Amino acid sequence: MAHDLQKVKEEFLEKLRTLTKEADILNLKAEYVGKTGVVSQMLKSLKDMDPEERKAFGPKANELKDQINDEATAAIEKLEIADINKKLAEQKIDISLNDQIQFKKVKSGGFHPRTLIQQEIEDIFLSMGFDVLDGPHVEDEFHNFEALNIPADHPARDMQDTFWFHDPSNRETNDKKYLLRTHTSTIQVRGMLSRKPPFRFIAPGVVFRCERTDASHEMVFTQLEGMMVGKDISVANLIYFMKTILREIFKKDVEVRLRPGFFPFVEPGFELDIRCLICEGKGCSVCKQIGWVELLPCGMVHPNVLKAGGIDPEEYNGFAFGLGLDRLVMMRYGIDDIRHLQSGDLRFNSQFKLY
Ligand code: FA5
Repeated sequence: MAHDLQKVKEEFLEKLRTLTKEADILNLKAEYVGKTGVVSQMLKSLKDMDPEERKAFGPKANELKDQINDEATAAIEKLEIADINKKLAEQKIDISLNDQIQFKKVKSGGFHPRTLIQQEIEDIFLSMGFDVLDGPHVEDEFHNFEALNIPADHPARDMQDTFWFHDPSNRETNDKKYLLRTHTSTIQVRGMLSRKPPFRFIAPGVVFRCERTDASHEMVFTQLEGMMVGKDISVANLIYFMKTILREIFKKDVEVRLRPGFFPFVEPGFELDIRCLICEGKGCSVCKQIGWVELLPCGMVHPNVLKAGGIDPEEYNGFAFGLGLDRLVMMRYGIDDIRHLQSGDLRFNSQFKLY
């Protein structure tokens, strides 16, 4: 009997090796271990054997049944894997770079020069304990003018003409209500109303003015506001911070001049001009032939502004400044026309530090 089992096994394996379809394998398996299969018949005959013979033959016959099942399953799996591999080979996509696309031809991006300088200034002020604030581009008259001591009909409003939105709920009366902010001083107001003195913060951002463009004027440009409020703050503190920032940015002493300047929201007010670094003071289109560039208006915060910000001017005072960020970028990199900054021209932009 044992001899028969071995023969059956060899016969099964031999047939199995020739099959290449799952259905054929299943049929072959049924021929051997199906209900009426060869091995099943052998197992059925166990009951007619005497106990000794059954004991010797039974386990071996069962073992063969398991082997046939396993071999059939393994053969089917092999077919399935071969099928998957075939499909993968047919659908293969070449993800390697071909000869035309080379890494050196893929240009990586870079920061805009204004972003580079803004980040530098933020780092410097953060290291001196200032917060960095942000504010909305669309403002109301209160934040852009009134809280800054520029009431309606004040002539200072004419110096900062801008783009107005009508309040849709108020179209009939044609009230001018919302506007694109003309300066970052709006964030002085928001900063004061959102914190208690003492505090210090800067606020970089885009501002908008309806004006004619030239080498040093844009309609959309950036400023960087700064404000410090506390007790006994003086012009000396203001000048210290102005000098520090210019020294850190230019990495050398630059020639500046401080002259009186009028802004309704500071008293006294100053204009801090920088000797034009484009023409070295000889006169050019950037400095309008005068050799100096208006860069950093500043002053001591007017008591009315402190009051509008909910701060008692009898107890606290402070300074504020509004740096012309684009002009600083021009001076730092020797850019002779502010319009390059908005041009989006890669020949210009790619000259600055890459990531
Ligand atoms: C103001 O906008 C004041 N809010 C600044 C200020 C803040 C004064 C706090 C006192 C205290 P001004 O209009 O001068 O001021 O603008 C500030 C700076 O922005 C200028 O010195 C200049 O560097 C820059 N600037 C002004 N107009 C333009 C423009 N059209 N294009 C580019 N830069 C400009």
